[in-house]
Amino acid sequence: MALNLTADEEALLESDDPAVRKSMELLVRLGEIYGAEDMVEIASAQASGISYKSIGDPGVEFLEGFAEEGATVNVSTFANPAGMDIERWEEMGVSPEFAEQQRRILTALREMGVTVSFTCTPYLAGNLPRRNQHIAWAESSAVSFANSVVGARTNREGGPSALAAAITGRTPRYGLHLPENRTPTHRVDVETSLETQADFAALGAWTGRIVEDGYPYFTGIDDATTDQLKSLGAAMAATGAVALYFVEDITTDDAPPTDVESMAFEGTDLDGEYDELTDTDEADLVVFGCPHSSVEEIELIADRVEGRSIEGDMWVCTSRSNRVWADRMGHTAKIEAAGGTVLSDTCNVVAPIEEMGYESTATDSAKAATYLPGFGNQRVKFDDKLSLLEEVTR
Ligand code: F3S
Repeated sequence: MALNLTADEEALLESDDPAVRKSMELLVRLGEIYGAEDMVEIASAQASGISYKSIGDPGVEFLEGFAEEGATVNVSTFANPAGMDIERWEEMGVSPEFAEQQRRILTALREMGVTVSFTCTPYLAGNLPRRNQHIAWAESSAVSFANSVVGARTNREGGPSALAAAITGRTPRYGLHLPENRTPTHRVDVETSLETQADFAALGAWTGRIVEDGYPYFTGIDDATTDQLKSLGAAMAATGAVALYFVEDITTDDAPPTDVESMAFEGTDLDGEYDELTDTDEADLVVFGCPHSSVEEIELIADRVEGRSIEGDMWVCTSRSNRVWADRMGHTAKIEAAGGTVLSDTCNVVAPIEEMGYESTATDSAKAATYLPGFGNQRVKFDDKLSLLEEVTR
């Protein structure tokens, strides 16, 4: 079906600027595939697939070529994590060759006007959409947070479609841009108490595996912090492809659905999920900050390790902006005095950790626990922050 395009959109499709024309052609094609009737203007975009580990040399050349053609973004566009801390890559153990290619990616993005924020939590770092605002974000955990907690509207974009949306300022109106599609498909009655952020992640991992790309509605959760919701959504987006969820009285005032498939999440399911996500007792590296840590999470870690000594390597990953606040508050100094490292711009999934000699990772993130075996060749231990910190400090 042909899309109804405005005169401005027709002009974009006929543009002399090859980047604009190609971007619009891609979006029109996507719209046709998904049955969109028209386009919608977006307020912001999020570019993913910008770690050198993920895109390799062909990706570097594509982005440089696009930038050389004059491609520029027309809406606020933040970048997802890179393969290294842009300033501390040597300390991380990243090779100079990798660093050089990652810097070429950074330069190309900056030339296009992308804010080189390199974070998966743009909503904690200066790019917070508002309710019902249309956006085109690509990082699955951020998509989930924006749709579910903030109430903005985005599909789960791929790297190219998000960049095309950023350049044209538009995306096809289908899927989660349409209010009639933003309704629960499953009901999950939580019949056990969730005590930690990792418990929320475990619930998410269990749910995502069952509902796949559905939109679950949770009952039985009395309260949840922003960080807990962040972990819940990230996990569901990793074991499934959940882009929207509801938590009774927390993210929605709507009553629980009665006409959808329902299931109960019990204490045995919670315990079982810790086993499901764990395949080793040992870890060469302990990592927190998937999705990127808030200042509160960094503070909790700093308070726990203050005056103690960390055995082995520990990374705390966060956005550059949160890192600045953590520095000022003295959290970074406490963590690094104990032997840990606070990294910005990157995470243990998109950094080349397998090339750095790590074979096993401990994490409180169900998303990281899901991706690390395949993407980082790691054995994984999943547990909550305080338990892991207790184990690795003396
Ligand atoms: Fe973010 Fe990396 Fe996890 S991009 S959500 S910290 S896998």
